[in-house]
Amino acid sequence: MEKKELLYEGKGKKIFLTEDENFLIAEFKDDLTAFDAVKKGFEKGKGALNCQISSELFELLEKEGIPTHYVKRLSDSEMVIKKAEMIPIEVVVRNIATGSLTKRLGIPDGTKLPFSLVEFYYKNDDLHDPIINDEHALILELAESESELEELKRLGREINVILKSFFDQRDLILVDFKLEFGKDSDGKIILADEISPDSCRFWDKNTGEKLDKDRFRQDLGNVKLAYEEVLKRILNK
Ligand code: TMP
Ligand code: ASP
Repeated sequence: MEKKELLYEGKGKKIFLTEDENFLIAEFKDDLTAFDAVKKGFEKGKGALNCQISSELFELLEKEGIPTHYVKRLSDSEMVIKKAEMIPIEVVVRNIATGSLTKRLGIPDGTKLPFSLVEFYYKNDDLHDPIINDEHALILELAESESELEELKRLGREINVILKSFFDQRDLILVDFKLEFGKDSDGKIILADEISPDSCRFWDKNTGEKLDKDRFRQDLGNVKLAYEEVLKRILNK
């Protein structure tokens, strides 16, 4: 499959058309951004690490029956994906309180939540991706129906169960993560975007060390080493 015109460029990926209208190519970038791209950085090789990590996790989820946009990995930093109409909602699933949840609600950092929390954010840079509830999503016509929103929550929870246990076996705590979904040509909701240390938080089960983009957000150093460690744990069970 060959890359044709650039269709879209986001903060972490470029999306290209291909000769087949049903498929696109996602190229993972080495750029790092945080806090609505106010903080910018670059880490050579980060794109390839995220591409490989995402590929492994999409393959795992497909095996477990979760429909995804993933087709195959094309090179170190490129994958072939199915074309999908993106739903402009970021679905965040949290197992442990940290990040914006602790700031918004005052829950102490590191508190284990009594159940997995699923939140919706409106994917809109101008508005800085505000948190929304189901009614906001319907008023904004981000989803077609309450049952579609329920489907997003169900998928979020199911993916959490699969990933939490997968990472637990690799001595990583899956603290929280963000998912994006799209609709395929049949209108079926499929998991899209990426699952990587850019979009998840991982804490080492034994040392509590952060192995994700918080190393960049909080200037902790060794960003690439952390992403490499996540890939190593995924591959060498
Ligand atoms: P938050 O605590 O900043 O709301 O982040 C929750 C999770 O979502 C965390 O794993 C990082 C991820 N995330 C993104 O992937 N993109 C974003 O724009 C934001 C704000 C968070
Ligand atoms: N939306 C943010 C950005 O890429 C992500 C983050 O804060 O981590 O600018």
